[in-house]
Amino acid sequence: MAKTYRIAPSILSANFARLGQEITDVITSGTDIVHFDVMDNHYVPNLTIGPLICEAIRPVTDAIIDVHLMVMPVDRIIPDFAKAGANIITFHPEASNHIDRSLSLVRELGCKSGLVFNPATPLDYLDHVMDKIDMVLLMSVNPGFGGQKFIPETLNKLRLARARIDAYMQKSGREVWLEVDGGVNAANIAEIACAGADTFVAGSAVFGAGKDSDPNRYNSIVGALRTELAKV
Ligand code: DX5
Ligand code: ZN
Repeated sequence: MAKTYRIAPSILSANFARLGQEITDVITSGTDIVHFDVMDNHYVPNLTIGPLICEAIRPVTDAIIDVHLMVMPVDRIIPDFAKAGANIITFHPEASNHIDRSLSLVRELGCKSGLVFNPATPLDYLDHVMDKIDMVLLMSVNPGFGGQKFIPETLNKLRLARARIDAYMQKSGREVWLEVDGGVNAANIAEIACAGADTFVAGSAVFGAGKDSDPNRYNSIVGALRTELAKV
C-alpha cells in the first residue's frame, strides 16, 4: 500500500497582507496541513504570530492547523491556541519545566500533542511519554527563521526516530506522525521521506514559488513535491 505523505506549508513565508487567500490557495493546490510557527523573541530570536491570527484563519480552512510553539514557557499559552482552533500543538521539551504535564494539557483541551526536537536535542525525551504523543517533529534547521538550509545529520536522526515510532506503533496500535521542519524542498524531499518522515513542513520552497495573485500559483511547486514523493 502506498504510504500517506502530508505536506504542511509553513505560513511564516506567506504574504501576511493576504493571509486568508494564501491559505485557501496553498491548500487547494494539494497540501494538507497549515503549519503555524509561533515565535516569542525569547525562546527563539524572532517574533511572529499568536492565537489571534490562529482564530482569524480558523474559519478560512478545514485543513488541520499545526501550531509549532517556539515560546517559553508553554503552559500559559496552550489553552489560547486550543480555543483559537488549533488541531495539533507541539512544543520544544527545553521550553517546558514539566513536559508530561504540558503534553497532558494539550490532550485535555482536545488537541493532538507533540514534541519538537532541535538539531542537537536527543530523542531520549520520548522515552517515558510516547503514550501522550501524536506527532514527533524533528527540526532540520535551528528554529527561528524560514529560508535556512537543511542540516544533513537530520537524515540519521529521522532513521532513529522512525525506528522508535515503528516499534511503538506496532506495540500500541496507535498512529504517531513523524514531521520534519526546515529547508525542505523538491530537491531533497524524496531523500527525507526515505529516511522516514511522513509529514513535511515547507515554507520558503512553497510560498517563494508564488509571486502573483494567480490562485493556481502553488500548483507547480506542490506538484513537484508530490512527484518526488511518489518516487519513494
Ligand atoms: C523555523 C520554522 C519553520 C520554517 C520553515 O523555525 O519552524 O517552520 O518556517 O521554513 P523553510 O521551509 O523556509 O525552512
Ligand atoms: Zn515550524
